[in-house]
Amino acid sequence: MALTIGVDVGGTKVAAGVVDDGGRILEQVRRPTPSTDPRQTAEVIAEVVDLLKGKYEQVEAVGLGAAGFVDEARATVLFAPNLAWRDEPIKDKVEELVGMPVVVENDANATAWGEFRFGAGRGERFLVLVALGTGIGGGIVVDGELYRGRFGLAGEIGHLRMVPDGRRCGCGNRGCWEQYASGNALVHEARELARVAPLMAARLLELGDGTPEGVGGLEITQAAREGDRAALECFGTVAAWAGQGLADLAAILDPGAFIIGGGLSDAGDLLLEPVRAAFEAAVTGRGYRRLPEVRIAELGSAAGIVGAADLARQR
Ligand code: BGC
Ligand code: NA
Ligand code: ZN
Repeated sequence: MALTIGVDVGGTKVAAGVVDDGGRILEQVRRPTPSTDPRQTAEVIAEVVDLLKGKYEQVEAVGLGAAGFVDEARATVLFAPNLAWRDEPIKDKVEELVGMPVVVENDANATAWGEFRFGAGRGERFLVLVALGTGIGGGIVVDGELYRGRFGLAGEIGHLRMVPDGRRCGCGNRGCWEQYASGNALVHEARELARVAPLMAARLLELGDGTPEGVGGLEITQAAREGDRAALECFGTVAAWAGQGLADLAAILDPGAFIIGGGLSDAGDLLLEPVRAAFEAAVTGRGYRRLPEVRIAELGSAAGIVGAADLARQR
């Protein structure tokens, strides 16, 4: 049986897996993403691929989901707001290092493809995957196909401007959606609260190391699960921004489903319920149209691996 390797290169981790034609992951490895040096990133990718290839000789191609703007030839990462890639010929570099064909795709596109083929998007030919992680990634499936746009860059939904003159973004602009509705945005919200209103944020501070910087995603989610009001308020703020963005996307794309993935989606209903409510309160034409479902991604953090591997299989 032919196998492929999928690699998900995100803002914080490189996760790779050997995947079969049914979308099952046979084995997985992960490493932290080297944040400053693109050469090191290519080497880490090659290292995890070699490791997996060493165990599964039938592997015949590699799919790479990269957190950035991938060109239409699916070879070069032109730009990455949250990584050091600038005009990075990642396909050539990794092919040279691993000696196998490499297919490069935007990370959120790969995730969308994984969910469409094997996860929460099965049978839904029009969907938008929204990955809430370090940034916000988007993957658009139109009539059963990944929509890439004219130059390969469609679906950069994280950089919709939500707030004129708002928070500065890794892309250089201000007020981008990913500064308000990503996993990082949730942490930003909680740390600000811990700085400005430490008494309100007492439980958050206690779960961390006592400083605002010690409050991370895990602490916020745990506190929210316990019913802590400060943590729930942070979720509420981020969910409201997320729902507003979904409403804008629905106005343009009219999908059958929004699938919410990325690290923040691990919070499940804690996130989903306020996002749905915000979406339904904001969407244009409400009351007179059918609404897309808003679902949590089914394959979780593995969707990027599975999707990239499947795209490599179809190369
Ligand atoms: C990038 C996207 C990427 C997303 C999620 C955004 O900042 O612009 O290319 O898909 O983060 O990693
Ligand atoms: Na995308
Ligand atoms: Zn931006």
